[in-house]
Amino acid sequence: MLHGRRILLVIAGGIAAYKSLELIRRLRERGATVRCVMTAAAQRFITPLAAQTLSGDRVYSDLFSLTDENEMGHLRLSQEADLIVVAPATADLIAKLAAGLADDLASTVLIASNKPILLAPAMNTRMWANPATQSNLAVLEKRGVTRIGPESGPLAEAESGLGRMAEPTTIADAVEAHFVAYALLRGRKALVTSGPTEEAIDPVRYIANRSSGKQGHAIAAAIARLGADTVLVSGPTREADPPGVRVVHVRSAREMLSVCEAQLPVDVAVCAAAVADWRVDVAPQKLKKKGAPPTLTLVENPDILATLAHAANRRPRLVVGFAAETENLIAAARAKRAAKGADWILANDVSAASGVFGSDSNDIHLIDERGTESWGRLSKRDVGDRLAARIAQFFDRKAAE
Ligand code: CTP
Repeated sequence: MLHGRRILLVIAGGIAAYKSLELIRRLRERGATVRCVMTAAAQRFITPLAAQTLSGDRVYSDLFSLTDENEMGHLRLSQEADLIVVAPATADLIAKLAAGLADDLASTVLIASNKPILLAPAMNTRMWANPATQSNLAVLEKRGVTRIGPESGPLAEAESGLGRMAEPTTIADAVEAHFVAYALLRGRKALVTSGPTEEAIDPVRYIANRSSGKQGHAIAAAIARLGADTVLVSGPTREADPPGVRVVHVRSAREMLSVCEAQLPVDVAVCAAAVADWRVDVAPQKLKKKGAPPTLTLVENPDILATLAHAANRRPRLVVGFAAETENLIAAARAKRAAKGADWILANDVSAASGVFGSDSNDIHLIDERGTESWGRLSKRDVGDRLAARIAQFFDRKAAE
């Protein structure tokens, strides 16, 4: 059921827009309130009056209308929604969203929003298969935009194939599934570390490592998708800030630790960062190239995972760490779990033979007090989802105890 859920339905210009009218009905039947934004092209297929009559609310369409902006600015339109559904999502609107264009109310609302977005694409098979459309969808998926459909079947102009918008009931089911998942970690606070750290040698040089931050970012995004209030403390990476996550950018291990400690108390902490074990005793001035090469004196960095796991009365209920090993994977990971005081360790084999390092996938074994659970080879995104689901299950069981 969708009682109390506020859906902002963006209707773009495609023949499937007629099905959006039924979607409004299906969503309202399940208890949601529905507010509609229509593009100019959508109004060539269906009238605002029809959408207004079915939604019971006025329909917004003009970015520049003084009345629209006075009564309901584009920022408020998205702020007052729990989920934005784009149905039909045309190739054009998908491309605009991927590129960040905002030349009408619909595209501006989407770009100005930090709310979850669900797309229900509808278009001709060739437009769907076009590499531009596919790469736009891949970009959006990376940003956390989810999608339902399209399906295969009869299309307009007597054609048939993949491109039909999912049926209104299927879209309404996907909306419900979104909120079920979203409730799993609602009310929980999560802290995730990600990426490498940079340790200064002098005011212009530093030591870093090759961590991409992909896994940590994927975990933060997945936990946020389940509704947790998520803070990601990230070293310097090329990864975009995940949607729906508060990101604090740091450089050194000590900065990372102090930001993490300032976030306590949290329910769960996941330490996925490749924190430098040592920092350099920093030279106050830039080292000059004269005489013999300088000797760098290394000082041990604080261990963030161990510090959080031993944070006396502010210890997170669940502390999760990683162990990247090249040999004796499980034994080394078990030893790391005990040494650092973590509840769970995600062990991954980073030997050259595994091919994991720097790739988009991971081969994880979860080690807890009961034993080892092997997940097999998964994409980093799937590892994030699996871990987030496992965390939700942990709190569910704790609540039942
Ligand atoms: N970790 C941390 N702070 C550090 C070092 C590591 O929080 N200063 C965390 C990592 O985020 C990871 C776990 O500890 O979750 C394991 O890190 P790893 O580098 O594999 O372990 P080390 O303790 O550095 O041991 P070694 O390098 O000797 O294997």
